Amino acid sequence: MSGAPPGSSSAGLSTGTFPTAEDWDAWHRAGRSRPVPLRECAWVHRSLAPRRGMTAVDLGCGRGQWAAQMFRWGMQVTGFDFSGEALWQARRGAGVHPRLSFAHWDLNTEPPPSTVQPHSVDLVTCRWVVPYLHLPRFLATVTWMLKPHGVLYLLTPLHSAGGPMDRHLAEDQLSHLMTRWRYCLTTDFSRSNRAMLLRGHDSTAEGPR
Ligand SMILES: C[S@@+](CC[C@H](N)C(=O)[O-])C[C@H]1O[C@@H](n2cnc3c(N)ncnc32)[C@H](O)[C@@H]1O
Repeated sequence: MSGAPPGSSSAGLSTGTFPTAEDWDAWHRAGRSRPVPLRECAWVHRSLAPRRGMTAVDLGCGRGQWAAQMFRWGMQVTGFDFSGEALWQARRGAGVHPRLSFAHWDLNTEPPPSTVQPHSVDLVTCRWVVPYLHLPRFLATVTWMLKPHGVLYLLTPLHSAGGPMDRHLAEDQLSHLMTRWRYCLTTDFSRSNRAMLLRGHDSTAEGPR
């Protein structure tokens, strides 16, 4: 995909209905989000070697703790979420800084905001969010945003209790996410979650680095 932003196709791998922004507002008000584990920070930092000035987008940023971590690594970061409560908490926690911002985006229904240009982002991250998204649309969005050889970092649960706010990805969904990337690095921080760094999707990669 190159010029046009991702469309609204949701056919394929995602099933069922997803929680609404209001559901997530209540979830964030109840203080349910978790702090970023040191082990995860160390693995991503070691594997990715983030450089000052790289651009990063955190999709489904929640309260913004991961976006703030990337900001501390020197990156230019925008966090997107559709929960007004999450965005409010993220902005309150981060304060005002030219390299860190938070904005509204419903990833399942809205086109990319005009602030996001095609093939302009070095790193897209998405922690604990993919089970709530339409996967084909999500992948189209990510590959549209990423620079050639850009990286997608995913952290996703492998098991869940199965309630509407507690979803995980099935093996076929994980496999689908990992196809067509030139380089994949995965690790399981525990038996219940998987981290993936995916570089160079075949729709964005153009020649050697
Ligand atoms: C489990 S929380 C994870 C938050 C954060 N990524 C973290 O690591 O703590 C899931 C987040 O995804 C957001 N989300 C879910 N569906 C979304 C959608 N369609 N568009 C944008 N954000 C969405 C929710 O509002 C919520 O903040």
